[in-house]
Amino acid sequence: MDTYPSSATLDAPFLVPSWRERPDTGPAAPAPAQERLLLLLPEGSLAQVVADRCAETGARLSAAVAGDRFHPDDPASVAALIEEEFASRPPDAVLCAWALGEGPGAEGDAAAAYRTFARLQALGAALAGRPAGAGPDRAVRLIIATDRAHRAVPGDTARPYQAVADGPALALGLEADRLSVRTADVDTTEGDGAIAAALAAEVAARGEGAVAWRAGRRLALEYVPFAHSAPAHSPFTPGGTYVITGGFGAIGLALARRIAEVPDTSVVLIGRNLPDGGGAPEGAPEGAGAGRHRPAEELARLRASGAKVLAFACDVADRPRLAEVIGKARAETGRIDGVLHLAGVVDDTRLHLLEPGLAGRVMAPKTAGTLALDELCPDARFLVLFSSVQNLSGAYGHGAYIAANRFLDSYAAAADTDARQVVAINWTLWGEVFGMAAPPAETEAAAGAVRGWLATAEGIAALERILVHRPGPQVAVCPDGYEAQLHRAGSRAAAARERAARA
Ligand SMILES: NC(=O)c1ccc[n+]([C@@H]2O[C@H](COP(=O)([O-])OP(=O)(O)OC[C@H]3O[C@@H](n4cnc5c(N)ncnc54)[C@H](OP(=O)(O)O)[C@@H]3O)[C@@H](O)[C@H]2O)c1
Repeated sequence: MDTYPSSATLDAPFLVPSWRERPDTGPAAPAPAQERLLLLLPEGSLAQVVADRCAETGARLSAAVAGDRFHPDDPASVAALIEEEFASRPPDAVLCAWALGEGPGAEGDAAAAYRTFARLQALGAALAGRPAGAGPDRAVRLIIATDRAHRAVPGDTARPYQAVADGPALALGLEADRLSVRTADVDTTEGDGAIAAALAAEVAARGEGAVAWRAGRRLALEYVPFAHSAPAHSPFTPGGTYVITGGFGAIGLALARRIAEVPDTSVVLIGRNLPDGGGAPEGAPEGAGAGRHRPAEELARLRASGAKVLAFACDVADRPRLAEVIGKARAETGRIDGVLHLAGVVDDTRLHLLEPGLAGRVMAPKTAGTLALDELCPDARFLVLFSSVQNLSGAYGHGAYIAANRFLDSYAAAADTDARQVVAINWTLWGEVFGMAAPPAETEAAAGAVRGWLATAEGIAALERILVHRPGPQVAVCPDGYEAQLHRAGSRAAAARERAARA
């Protein structure tokens, strides 16, 4: 197995999100009067208030209200609207505010998350390949408004199904030519006037990234260092039972080996397929790591070492089946001490080409799976959600994967309490096992672009530090830092765009 140099000292700081008022990143001067703005607005009183406030900028407005000229759940109506609006002169900015004020409804959070994704995917598909804007950089500004997706100030309760919007937003920014994407998170409980003021400022502003408006303050998302050191004790306690979903995957089995070193522990491994039970289900995307990792042999070795291993075939998004499995594990071991939720699949399709079924399969383990696990294991001291560093930078072709992982980040922010740790970890590449991640191209390795990737022992040590030190509900393990990750994502996207243009 190839091993890439891991940088990075384990002692490099973790990164944690921080929302800060930054006057230097505030809205630019009001949009010039000759600008054209397209507003996609929700039904209800807010629509008129936002349109009126945006009109005060002096820009030429085209306002479309959901249920009137288009319906967000009908991609054809969204495509027709965009076609019409771009037919003469493309807008300079498009504000997508149709999700404001929406609750998850009776369908529940996982279905609402998928709806958020599918609607923005339809908008992204309609915008992809449209003519450039008229501004000096020729980019059309797309502002996607969300309602309390983030815990931007203490006391906020994050809503994970809204945070899913960041997936399409982060992918589109890298996939679509001449689209400059920003998310603007507001709190609709502050009232229509406050929301309208925030959104009018956002349509005038320039720049990408994520901002949140709270009580009239514009906060920008940053990632700040969190220093750490080796903990005095392990978070895995002798005699404990630990559930690992995605447990037959590359990282899952490595974690199981580590936990099994602690005396008398039991590991409960869950995957849709038992390692010796044949291939992946029909239609399941293949993990890029398939072929390198030998789960049947690794599981046999783990058992031979004397570890107590319970192995179950179960789709974590299938709640009744998961309840049965957790029930059996509890009956066998008498307890669940911690849950490590790794189950997931990745796909490399650009947003406008992604089929709904595939997007649903990428999202389900991390949305429905997380909700089911949390509910079924309330006694676990911790729930660790395996998320990705791509949530910080975006990634070409990974809109659904990032959406699913952003659900995890937001879920952890909402569910973490002093009594029970819920943490989403934005991992960089595990550079020995790869797992679902694609190994770096040789050119990247030669160029030193692999710096910062983790050796397996470093990843496990980082996990233990996070469980003991508790830096917060969302922690990025990206030893070469945020700027390096942005650079990596940008250069990969540029290469992918070039390949797509040649194809
Ligand atoms: N590898 C990396 O460098 C890296 C970097 C960042 C984040 N991560 C995250 O870390 C986690 C583990 O990654 P990995 O590299 O170990 O991936 P992996 O080797 O592909 O393992 C993932 C496992 O999840 C299982 N799975 C998928 N869907 C499932 C479902 N619905 N229910 C139950 N099990 C399911 C898969 O097995 P079946 O198909 O048999 O179900 C597979 O064995 C993932 O969540 C990933 O997003 C990994």
